[in-house]
Amino acid sequence: MEKVRVKKVMEDSSVTYLSIEDLKPGYRFTRPVFDENKNLVILPGSIIRQKDIERYGRWGIKSLHTQGNAIMDKGNLLSEKQGIKNAIKHQRLYKSTNTYESCLRSFDKFYTDLLRALTVERSRIDYIVNSLYNTFIDSKTELIEILLQQDEEVNPIVLNSVNCTIISIIIGSSLKLPSHKVVQLATGALLHDIGWVMMPQDYLVKKDRLTEEEWDFIKTHPIHSYSIILNQLKYHTDIAEIALYHHENWDGTGYPKKIKGLKIPVAARIVAVADAFTAMLTKRVYRNELLAYLSLKTIMGDVNRKYDPDIVKALLNEVSLYPVGSYVLLNNNTVGYVTDINTASPLRPKVKVIMDYHGNEAEEQEVVDLNKASTLFIRQAINPRNFLKPVTD
Ligand SMILES: [Fe+2]
Repeated sequence: MEKVRVKKVMEDSSVTYLSIEDLKPGYRFTRPVFDENKNLVILPGSIIRQKDIERYGRWGIKSLHTQGNAIMDKGNLLSEKQGIKNAIKHQRLYKSTNTYESCLRSFDKFYTDLLRALTVERSRIDYIVNSLYNTFIDSKTELIEILLQQDEEVNPIVLNSVNCTIISIIIGSSLKLPSHKVVQLATGALLHDIGWVMMPQDYLVKKDRLTEEEWDFIKTHPIHSYSIILNQLKYHTDIAEIALYHHENWDGTGYPKKIKGLKIPVAARIVAVADAFTAMLTKRVYRNELLAYLSLKTIMGDVNRKYDPDIVKALLNEVSLYPVGSYVLLNNNTVGYVTDINTASPLRPKVKVIMDYHGNEAEEQEVVDLNKASTLFIRQAINPRNFLKPVTD
């Protein structure tokens, strides 16, 4: 069993100090990691990459400390004291992150091949869909956590298609669709925007507002997706129709066919909600990403107009306003990391307090069950990037 050789410079009752040279790509920590000035440097659970280590060096960070444990490739724990439950959780997180990143890479390659008019095999799509579905079965919570923390620099269509597939699987399963229907739904979700290969790709990075003509052209992408799925990839019409109708609105104001309500296939209604949710979480050239809380609030504001209310309800039940992995400001001005949700009280999850009301690292990073702490409540969701040490490069 391979051991992480992180040098413990000093260890008091619960704090581990380590030098920047001890960090290796692939590490992740079970709790936040702070620098010598108590700036939050590494979020719990996020995988450290070579470029992160180089960036910490440029920031002039020499030593770090954490009350957590380092885990490494294959999820082995640094500390023998760590409980089995945590080990399993982090192994799941590690495996799910690998699957997620490999699906992103595979779909990016598929999209690029199609863009270059190369012949593509649909088995590549089936493989990605099966990988995501199996990961969902084993590690749903971890998948949501990964999706919320993603900062991948890939084509936004590719990133959003993979994220939309995960959320569609979650909603479809919550609505108790049979598993073969969930797989069909996931295939449609992954390919719903594939018609974008027929669009000018610079529209994706255009900072100025698109003209009316450009918008009219973009609105043809569901038709191109339908044609690629049906004629080129030879999938069933039911899958092609998910893509064709993913921009139809519940009240009939969408496109391209302007059909409404239950006339829109259920899988297309699911993808419409999942697509809206994940697209808002993704940074675009013309706007920053939204927090899960704000994305869900925006979607709730469009229920009955754009979205099927039952599907939005299913999304809320599954993801919750403050999903696991999100950060919240409490009414006592401390900052917490959501570690678990209370399905019966979605506004009162369990949170690990990571920063005190002065903005410093919390001494005791205790987990508070807001359902039981009657005087504490969430004031607002916050973006962890706003309190991470600023990037100066
Ligand atoms: Fe679309």
